[in-house]
Amino acid sequence: MRLLVTGAGGQVGKEFLEEAAAHPIFGEVVGTTRQELDFTERSQVFDAVAGLGPDWIVHLGAMTAVDACEDDPDRAYLANALSVRYLKQAARRAGSRICYVSTDYVFDGKASSPYREWDPTSPVSVYGKSKLAGESELEAHDLIVRTSWVMGRYGRNTLKTILSLARAEGEVRFVADQVGSPTVVEDLVKTLAGLLLEDMSGVFHVSNQGHLSWYELVRFVFGEVGADQGRVVPIDSAEIAGTRKAPRPAFSVLDNCALRIAGMAPMPDYRDSVAKLARRLWSAG
Ligand SMILES: NC(=O)c1ccc[n+]([C@@H]2O[C@H](COP(=O)([O-])OP(=O)(O)OC[C@H]3O[C@@H](n4cnc5c(N)ncnc54)[C@H](OP(=O)(O)O)[C@@H]3O)[C@@H](O)[C@H]2O)c1
Repeated sequence: MRLLVTGAGGQVGKEFLEEAAAHPIFGEVVGTTRQELDFTERSQVFDAVAGLGPDWIVHLGAMTAVDACEDDPDRAYLANALSVRYLKQAARRAGSRICYVSTDYVFDGKASSPYREWDPTSPVSVYGKSKLAGESELEAHDLIVRTSWVMGRYGRNTLKTILSLARAEGEVRFVADQVGSPTVVEDLVKTLAGLLLEDMSGVFHVSNQGHLSWYELVRFVFGEVGADQGRVVPIDSAEIAGTRKAPRPAFSVLDNCALRIAGMAPMPDYRDSVAKLARRLWSAG
C-alpha cells in the first residue's frame, strides 16, 4: 500500500508517520509538510498525487486555529474545504482514496447524549463549517474520521498548556460548561491505521472513551501529576466569551458507534490514556 500524508509536521501527522512505519503493509509512506506540498495550491496537489499514485491520501493537514478561522473565513475554507476538492480531483485521476480527519465541531453541541456518525450536523463556528464543507467534498469510497480534543506528544495542545499551568502557581480558570472527549494521538493514529488496513469507508467517530468538561479535565490532570487541584476554578463560557472569537459547542461528545458496531477494537478510556500521556510529558519536563 502506498500512502501520501499531508500535514506531516502537525501533532497527528508526526505520530501517524511513526505508527505507519510499524506496519510493513504500508509499503511506501510519503509524509509532506507545507514546504513539500501546500495543499491549497492546485498544481502542487495534482503533481504530488500524480507523481506518487497513492492508494490512500491521508489528509491530516488543516487550518486548526479555531479563532483565526473566524477572523479569516476565506482562508479557512481554502485550507479545509477547497483543498479537499483539489485532492479529490487528483485522487480520481490517480485512482486514490482519501482519508480525511474531521472534528466534533461539525455539531452544534445542543445534544445531551453522545453524537452518532449518522446524526445531523450543524456547526456553529467557521472552523466547524469549513471542516464540514471538506467532508462534503468526499465520495462514498473515502473515509472520514471525526475526532475531538486532540492531544499528543508533538506540537501544541491543551494538555501541554495544562501541564505548564500545573508547574506554575496561582488560580487556574477553565470552563465547566463545555463537555467533550479527549483523544490521545497515540490511540487515534492506531485506530486510523486500523481503519485503513480494514479498507473501511464512510464516517467514523474516533475519540477516547468517557467525557468530561475542560474544568474536570484540568482537575484530573493536576491530580495525575500531583499538582494542587484546589487551584482549579470552574467558570462559565459566558465569562470568557469576549476573549474567544469562535463559539464552541457545549456538548460535543462523539459516540464511537460505527467502530463499535463494526466490531473494531474500542478506543481506550481517557482516564488511562490522558493519565499516561500527562505523566510522560510531565516527567520529560
Ligand atoms: N487539534 C484538535 O483538537 C483537533 C480536534 C478535532 C479534529 N482535528 C483535526 O485533526 C487533524 C490534525 O490536526 P492536528 O491537531 O495535527 O493539527 P496541527 O498540529 O495544527 O497540524 C496541522 C498541520 O497542517 C499543516 N497545514 C496547514 N495548512 C497547510 C497547507 N496549506 N499546506 C500544507 N500543510 C498545511 C500545518 O502546517 P503549518 O504549521 O505550516 O501551518 C500543520 O503542520 C486536522 O484535520 C484537524 O482539523 C484536530
